[in-house]
Amino acid sequence: MRILAFETTCDETSAAVLEGRVLRSNSVFSQIKLHRKYSGVVPELASRAHLEKIPFVLAGALGAAGVRVPLRPGVFDAVAFSRGPGLPGALMVGRVAAEAAARLCGAPLIGVSHLEGHLLACEFEGGRVKRPLEFPLLALIVSGGHTEMWHARGYGDYRVLGRTRDDAAGEAFDKVAKLLGLPYPGGPSVEKEAAKARGKGPVFPRPYMPGTRDFSFSGLKTAVSYYLAGKLGQDFYKRKLRLPARESAQVCQAFQEAVAGTLVRKAEEAAAELGLKRIAVGGGVSANGALRAAFGGLKGFEVRFSEKAYCSDNAAMVALCALRRLEAGKFANSLRVAPELDQPGW
Ligand code: KG4
Ligand code: ZN
Repeated sequence: MRILAFETTCDETSAAVLEGRVLRSNSVFSQIKLHRKYSGVVPELASRAHLEKIPFVLAGALGAAGVRVPLRPGVFDAVAFSRGPGLPGALMVGRVAAEAAARLCGAPLIGVSHLEGHLLACEFEGGRVKRPLEFPLLALIVSGGHTEMWHARGYGDYRVLGRTRDDAAGEAFDKVAKLLGLPYPGGPSVEKEAAKARGKGPVFPRPYMPGTRDFSFSGLKTAVSYYLAGKLGQDFYKRKLRLPARESAQVCQAFQEAVAGTLVRKAEEAAAELGLKRIAVGGGVSANGALRAAFGGLKGFEVRFSEKAYCSDNAAMVALCALRRLEAGKFANSLRVAPELDQPGW
């Protein structure tokens, strides 16, 4: 079984080839440099960059996998793409590329949930599908645009338990980094700064939101903003005022701890209530060391993270979702894109 996959939901253009359980290639072009001066992803620029880069990324993935071009019937058994959620213009690029490749190969076209990809990424080890997930489990997806918790009963069988009501965890990292004058993407910048923290810093509120499994990180971001305004003056952002390095590091650490503490507590509570013993965490934010350490401290649960290389957006995880669907024979209706159908389940 040989699968070609595309990922273009946000600011990574990626193509991958999965053959059986072996990842033959996973070529990723990151648009970070393009968006950095705006401290966030500019949708129109992202779409154009996908369009520009996708032929090269595809050529890279095919070349690394030893697949000869032009594509011919029978070369791939299926072609997959992230059908959403994501930026509409960006999604279209991946879908059109996938459709073209699928037609050339006479292969079925499979649209998968990007968020399911973040969950299944936990199965890769050393470039192979080596650690199959065991169900049922509690899935926590923490990316730039989404923070979601699911009760996963099997492949494709996901019940959404909670979602973010405002900013996603990654978005909060990005915005806090912007307030502190740290480079985009904020997650890695904040983590790097936090590692330098010494002494006692501020303590930020943790948005546990009792009584619901939803999340909300916008208030935490505002708390950081108020803290900075108190230290530097109301117009600190406009005047580009920055905290001294030592204090900035303390703010990063306090913010990171608040996010990690909230995610761990809410996941633990939900898993315990549902009688789930396994937790799997995926998405860009799952690369965060403080979050991994906080989950590592959980007693009584088996917690899985994906290898760091597969935490951020990549087409390998998209190929794997398609493989699971093919194995289950449930991909015929995978091409719907209406937002109300943007559910992770099959
Ligand atoms: O999953 P992802 O690559 O793209 C989306 O689907 O959104 O996630 C990107 C997000 C960004 O907000 C980025 O700041 C965050 O993941 N991120 C991190 C880290 N690395 C990336 N957040 C915290 N710590 C990190 N080390
Ligand atoms: Zn993502």
